[in-house]
Amino acid sequence: MTNFDDIPEARRETLITSVEPSSAKSSSSVTIWLLMALAVLSLGGAAIWWMRSSAATANAPNVTPAATPDSVAKSAEPNTENTANTSDTNIPNTATSTVSDQQNASDNLLGHRSYEIAETSSLVPLSTNAMVLLKPEVAQKVETMMAEARAVGISLDAISGFRTLEDQRYLFFDLKAERGQTTQTRAEVSAPPGYSEHHTGYAIDFIDLAQPATQLNASFEQTQAFRWLEENAAYYGFEMSFPKDNEQNVTYEPWHWRYVGNQESLELFYQD
Ligand code: DAL
Ligand code: ZN
Repeated sequence: MTNFDDIPEARRETLITSVEPSSAKSSSSVTIWLLMALAVLSLGGAAIWWMRSSAATANAPNVTPAATPDSVAKSAEPNTENTANTSDTNIPNTATSTVSDQQNASDNLLGHRSYEIAETSSLVPLSTNAMVLLKPEVAQKVETMMAEARAVGISLDAISGFRTLEDQRYLFFDLKAERGQTTQTRAEVSAPPGYSEHHTGYAIDFIDLAQPATQLNASFEQTQAFRWLEENAAYYGFEMSFPKDNEQNVTYEPWHWRYVGNQESLELFYQD
């Protein structure tokens, strides 16, 4: 028999519960079971909610923000590019550059994509102009194209192929300063160093030897050489890099073509 007076006050309530009449005890048990059931149901509900939200996250569409629109504003001035103000000057390829020189280059700058600098050992000179270095496959195609054009009386030739970082630094920064151009205006005609297709050995500037005044000028589109390119270049794996109203906002360059006739070049110019 429990003697309540022997029990510390703080524990008495517990003991009172344990000596409750059986009817009260059974009602208490029902309450406990109900509470436990409620807890189980709540936990189950929470688990189902968690699984659904995980699945929704996994199946959610890729909502990566769209690429920032090209911020390069096109100049309103007409394309009066010529040898004196173009970016595509024929310059000797004397300096050496390495891929590591541009490790920090981002993917896009002022509308131009970044490119690794081709190893000079991977390039060959054009037989008609040793200053023009290209990937062997490209050089071979260009020589065939020039021979085919010549066969129909067209003097198609090339003046610029591979360029080093130093070449492009001169063309971008030095000429920009010399001409007092804004960065954006310069970028409309010239890629910043590390961002020129010419770094790859897959890009080339064509000329018409019969019309030297059209060299690196929009008027090149009026030459027979250009018309021949328009009709035939695709058969040799070439395409114009900067047609009118191109997405990169680069000024129309009818003389500048790139080779996209193999896997490497295709990935270089088209892979995101
Ligand atoms: N003129 C082209 C955009 C270049 O500099 O590569
Ligand atoms: Zn060019």
